Amino acid sequence: MSKPSILVTRAVFPEVIDRLAQYFDVDSNQQDEALDAAALKARLAGKAGVLANAADRIDGALVAALPALRAVCNMAVGYNNLDVAALTAAGIVATNTPDVLTETTADFGWALLMATARRVTESEHWLRAGKWERWSFDMFLGMDLHGSTLGILGMGRIGQALARRAAGFGMPVIYHNRSRLPEDTERALNARYVSKAGLLAQSDHLILVLPYSAQSHHSIGAAELAQMKPSATLVNLARGGIVDDAALAEALRERRLFAAGLDVFEGEPQVHPGLLAVPNVVLTPHIASASEKTRRAMADLAADNLIAALDAGPQAGHPSSVINPDVMARRR
Ligand code: GLV
Repeated sequence: MSKPSILVTRAVFPEVIDRLAQYFDVDSNQQDEALDAAALKARLAGKAGVLANAADRIDGALVAALPALRAVCNMAVGYNNLDVAALTAAGIVATNTPDVLTETTADFGWALLMATARRVTESEHWLRAGKWERWSFDMFLGMDLHGSTLGILGMGRIGQALARRAAGFGMPVIYHNRSRLPEDTERALNARYVSKAGLLAQSDHLILVLPYSAQSHHSIGAAELAQMKPSATLVNLARGGIVDDAALAEALRERRLFAAGLDVFEGEPQVHPGLLAVPNVVLTPHIASASEKTRRAMADLAADNLIAALDAGPQAGHPSSVINPDVMARRR
């Protein structure tokens, strides 16, 4: 019997391709060519499964054109690139990679926050440009983290991991989320639930870790930025589109906000030119989960999910981290 065909849309660790090849006929984009929508559709034709990346848009029209597709396994925790309703209606199982990246992403959130508040990259660029002629008392004055209030918008796994780290800096944590955490979790995290308006007004440093959806689009726009302290910093660790980047660039340019740290952007890999033009923003290319160990764990989990979702391997028929469990239930 011939093996089912799958597509791996972007380059991954070669060991992962070798493992997939034990079960599948693998078409892999190890050259890492850019696959636009037309190329993705062409490469997916006749495939039973796909190991996808958060930038691969798999929408209703694409799903309708791929009757052989049975599994879409994202190598990312976020899955706003997938039309989950269309996948579910078509009986296609969808999976993501939660948990394995939580701590690494939270570490990076703190790296970005600290670099932003203490002007690490701005001062480094200045130094590299040969501008350091003498020390002075007011060089690159930043904002303290210790003792200041950390705000978190979106209190899921990553939000909670960020909050746990705040204890080391003696920072009280306030948060806003669709649903409030149980009291004992709040107590363990030393985190206090506040309204969104309260979060904006009270945070000295605000980190965004909520999932992207039509509802969270531009959760932070001009109106929200106007409610923040001018001394505050803002970190977006979640998805482009949660922040209105044009409004943020304007607020940073006018110093209505002290600084921002951004790992994700609207329309990435393009970055709003207004953000590139201001010094008080730290910009990183969507690397929050990018440690060697974690990227391997994400690739392994996505591959395990694909193998299991296509009824192969030791967990045949039981992929973990299924986004649309109804599909698996219907298959049984
Ligand atoms: C990365 O952005 C992810 O969602 O895992």
